[in-house]
Amino acid sequence: MNIVCIGGGPAGLYFGLLMKKQDPRHEVVVVERNRAYDTFGWGVVFSDQTLGNLVAADEPTARTILQAFNHWDDIDVFFKGHKVTSRGHGFCGIGRKRLLNILQARCEALGVKLVFETAVSDVRALAADFRADLVIGCDGINSGIRARYQEVFRPEVDTRRCRFVWLGTRQRFDAFTFAFEETEHGWFQAHIYQFDGETSTFIVETPEEVWQRAGLDRMSQEEGIAFCEKLFAARLDGHPLLSNATHLRGSAIWIKFPRIVCGNWVHRIDVGGKEVPLVLMGDAAHTAHYSIGSGTKLALEDAIELARCCAVYRAEGMDKVLAVYQDVRSVEVLKIQSAARNSMEWFENVDRYTQFEAPQFAYSMLTRSQRIPHENLRLRDAGYVDGYENWVAERAFAQAGVDVPSASRPIPPMLTPFRARGVVLKNRIVVSPMAQYSATDGLPGDFHLVHLGARAMGGAGLVCAEMTCVSPDARITRGCPGLWNDAQRDAWSRIVAFVHAETDAKIAMQLGHAGAKGSTCVPWAGGEDQPLAAGNWPLVSASAQQYLAGTSQTARAATRDDMARIQADFVAATRRAAEAGFDWLELHCAHGYLLSSFISPLTNRRHDEYGGDLAGRCRYPLEVFAAIRAAWPADRPISVRISAHDWADGGITPDDAVAIGRLFKAVGADMMDCSSGQVVPDAKPVYGRMYQTPFADRIRNEAGIATIAVGAIFEADHANGIIAAGRADLCAIARPHLANPAWTLTETAKLGYPSLAWPKQYLSAKAQLERNLQREKDAASANAGLTPQEIAAKLIDS
Ligand SMILES: Cc1cc2nc3c(=O)[nH]c(=O)nc-3n(C[C@H](O)[C@H](O)[C@H](O)COP(=O)(O)OP(=O)(O)OC[C@H]3O[C@@H](n4cnc5c(N)ncnc54)[C@H](O)[C@@H]3O)c2cc1C
Ligand SMILES: Cc1cc2nc3c(=O)[nH]c(=O)nc-3n(C[C@H](O)[C@H](O)[C@H](O)COP(=O)(O)O)c2cc1C
Repeated sequence: MNIVCIGGGPAGLYFGLLMKKQDPRHEVVVVERNRAYDTFGWGVVFSDQTLGNLVAADEPTARTILQAFNHWDDIDVFFKGHKVTSRGHGFCGIGRKRLLNILQARCEALGVKLVFETAVSDVRALAADFRADLVIGCDGINSGIRARYQEVFRPEVDTRRCRFVWLGTRQRFDAFTFAFEETEHGWFQAHIYQFDGETSTFIVETPEEVWQRAGLDRMSQEEGIAFCEKLFAARLDGHPLLSNATHLRGSAIWIKFPRIVCGNWVHRIDVGGKEVPLVLMGDAAHTAHYSIGSGTKLALEDAIELARCCAVYRAEGMDKVLAVYQDVRSVEVLKIQSAARNSMEWFENVDRYTQFEAPQFAYSMLTRSQRIPHENLRLRDAGYVDGYENWVAERAFAQAGVDVPSASRPIPPMLTPFRARGVVLKNRIVVSPMAQYSATDGLPGDFHLVHLGARAMGGAGLVCAEMTCVSPDARITRGCPGLWNDAQRDAWSRIVAFVHAETDAKIAMQLGHAGAKGSTCVPWAGGEDQPLAAGNWPLVSASAQQYLAGTSQTARAATRDDMARIQADFVAATRRAAEAGFDWLELHCAHGYLLSSFISPLTNRRHDEYGGDLAGRCRYPLEVFAAIRAAWPADRPISVRISAHDWADGGITPDDAVAIGRLFKAVGADMMDCSSGQVVPDAKPVYGRMYQTPFADRIRNEAGIATIAVGAIFEADHANGIIAAGRADLCAIARPHLANPAWTLTETAKLGYPSLAWPKQYLSAKAQLERNLQREKDAASANAGLTPQEIAAKLIDS
């Protein structure tokens, strides 16, 4: 094959050498606009795992790189005069120049032709000159090739909010260092890593508006650098900051990161009547934010994968080779990009977390990408995590007004107590409200007693009853429970009494009104959201609407009389909930039900003062809240569940959700329970582990109100990380509690934490479970590193 790589960065050079190594008969040429051994830039970072991939792909290159690497394990975070260190992170740094030189030398040794000082402007002419069978577009982040064929490659470029500058210094750092400094204009941060014996990369970053307020947009390159030297003087110890971007003038060294994703990576160009594949690779195809240090890794791994595809699938034709390359790499890249997105957003919003004390700020930063879970941090540095858990526990017990118990080991963050008004929850786990559709005439029965009772015995700090309706016509289905009469109150009070007598869990009531989503079948008899076959009751909503077009009943717009009646129903139900003895109340303003329909612009098109802007749309839910707050005992909390994201064009966004949190905080809400979606049927949620937690994080740390995170939180590790990082105050767990009422007890046993109280009747199960889990752990560690065959042989032997 004749292969032409346009761009002599890591992607082009590495692909070139791998192909030449694969088959010396390949003619490979790399065309680069810069001079040989001439590049700008400081150091790049790899993780230990990337090094493993390089060793497998080409050992001689990997060995030379390894000799040139600066390796370190620690991360230091400097914040508000404190230094927090976490160990065991395993990173390597190497000068970009050094890396390119190694790759260039290896290319030359293998016989790859390197053509320098040639800026390619006509890809087809170049391909024709070299009679190319394959052209690689690896011309970097500002790829001319990607731009030239943008209709085919379909790039999406998202220019981000921070300005950053890539500087260097001779100051040495023995850890990957993050330094945060406050100015009168806002916060700046530096990402610093030493990459050879005497040089460190020093990236300074700040949001665009802070950059402008500080006047950096009007400063010369030298003035801008002097500003950074002064700001980070404590880290530099008299060493100057250096720039090697001599070709850039003034503030042009400060750039904004473009997040790039391409819809397609492969094109076929016509070269003298022959169809030649043109393939994107490296930064030309995608970018991942520098804060997770993966741009070079991705470029090298693209090269490894395309070379592998050529070796494995070449016989099946280039179409197959390229299809597999794009499939495999686009998935891998998406994974890294989504972790990089979390990391990038964390750094873009540092001011959201600067009210934290240093230990929590550092933990939040370390876990920002959600790729390093709590237990993984412990594997890296048990001392750090133990110390931090003790710190979290001390603060939590102080907040709850409870003495810290003496325990043999630190208390997992999810098991620390939490106080809201006069109620102290024994831990941070909530059984999320889940409709069971098993009531008759709104009366909860034995099913509810057993269902909620079992979950209250299962270890959670708070068990929330399902959406309970304030009037018969407020029900979703005929199976929904209610609180519109005293018989219902008494039936609930039997359940509450059981929970209080037999467990130390607290119990919450969730009050709601179905609005336009009412009068439907139970899911297993007629289908979810389907109207009843007969006996439908009339529906009201913020504005006239049909939830499922062509299917649902049409709800009419609520009149002021309807609204007054419904508010009175909420108040009456609140009084009954208090009489039944519930510890906690939750107002359901989510999922497209009545109160939610007022909040979302997709369902509220009113022209009176209850519509219009967000304040107008929230007016009715806030009035209902104020009315129930007045009827609910002052020492018991009320949380408010909202859909923090409608996941639909023109709907509620997380920015709105922060504003909604502020509005509810102002009228005395204790917590925001941060769900999302279900407001319109054509919403497109982006699911994933803990996918709604970022909303709880934003509302908590921007609006300053406590939050409940919910949604795909299904392991203790998730909950511990969320609580420890201050992303939410409580974690609500729904579906896992349907499968396992004792989720908290069993997840705690899996952690190996022995000091959680079990119901006295179940203690023998605790001992057995802990023993069996320990055996599994011992077996897993004994088998670590063995192949499945070796494990099987061991089992047969034993
Ligand atoms: C501030 C900052 C910090 C970073 N930190 C890290 C890090 O810590 N770790 C990490 O892994 N990555 C890091 N990166 C990213 C990393 O530098 C890139 O992701 C990586 O170099 C991508 O390799 P590439 O080969 O795709 O592109 P590049 O390295 O950009 O190479 C493209 C090459 O193409 C050449 N070229 C462009 N146009 C033409 C043309 N028309 N004709 C001929 N030649 C052309 C360019 O001169 C260049 O040499 C960082 C990037 C930035 C901006
Ligand atoms: C069967 C079922 C019924 C639900 N009913 C309610 C409800 O009554 N009120 C409510 O606010 N959310 C309800 N939800 C949503 C859950 O409380 C929770 O937000 C959602 O399931 C995501 O959490 P998970 O990933 O832990 O399941 C229900 C969810 C399920 C699975």
